[in-house]
Amino acid sequence: MLQGKTIVVTGAASGIGAASAALLAACGADVISVDINEPDRPVGRFFRADLSDKSSIDELVAALPAGANGLANIAGLPPTRPAEAVVKVNLVGLKYLTTQLVPKLSDGASVVNLASLAGLGWADAKDVVMASSDLGFDDVAAFCRGHKISEARSYFFSKEALIVWTMQNRWTWRARGIRMNSISPGPVDTPILKDFIETLGARAEEDMKTMDRPGTPADIAPVIAFLMSDGSAWIRGTNLPVDGGMFSNVLCSTHGFN
Ligand code: NAI
Repeated sequence: MLQGKTIVVTGAASGIGAASAALLAACGADVISVDINEPDRPVGRFFRADLSDKSSIDELVAALPAGANGLANIAGLPPTRPAEAVVKVNLVGLKYLTTQLVPKLSDGASVVNLASLAGLGWADAKDVVMASSDLGFDDVAAFCRGHKISEARSYFFSKEALIVWTMQNRWTWRARGIRMNSISPGPVDTPILKDFIETLGARAEEDMKTMDRPGTPADIAPVIAFLMSDGSAWIRGTNLPVDGGMFSNVLCSTHGFN
């Protein structure tokens, strides 16, 4: 399904990124793995980069080969980490890497952003999300202080803003056939699941009771492979929930349907 495609995967050392890198390679892609940590079982070529750091991203973009057909932005930090780091990795660094790499991507390339069910409240956070549209690395600390973005809130905010940014870029690179979508998983059993449970407390326990099971990386990776494939070429600027039905459950409850 992905023969002849070169796909850059960030966050490839663990969890969803590692599973996605392995599946993309199994589907025939030439994978380029990127992470701050070296993967135990690297898939394809490995490039170390710190996606919270502008100069590290500049070095990465200069080092990556031209002509990649896909970018899977999967690297992310959980809400137990400092707010500034979460916003840098999950949002500012992701956006910077993408916009810097687009000129080097092939026409027709696919960009997939790992958002989250945690971002579903983006419409209620409109003002802060709008205020973040041009947020640079050096402004993140003051932005978090100014908008009272705590550790716990930083994760939600980063994913809300990422979903909006994905939708906003529905046609940015349309002339070159480059498209961007996001995936919003519900809770997935990876090393950071415990961080969400710690942060969300009772709400996470409630979610876990509502769900039949948490997701696994193997539930998410095939959706990334599909969005990287030519069969999904007309899916643009969309946020795709992959969550065992949780998003529909929230929508139905909110609007009074059973
Ligand atoms: P994970 O912790 O297993 O993997 C995250 C990867 O990102 C790690 O390999 C880590 O080294 C890398 N990373 C972190 N900071 C980095 C930096 N500064 N530079 C480069 N790489 C960095 O977590 P998981 O669960 O696989 O998360 C992947 C993505 O999925 C994240 O964006 C997360 O927010 C999202 N997600 C996860 C859910 C879950 O329940 N596990 C639910 C919804 C979304």
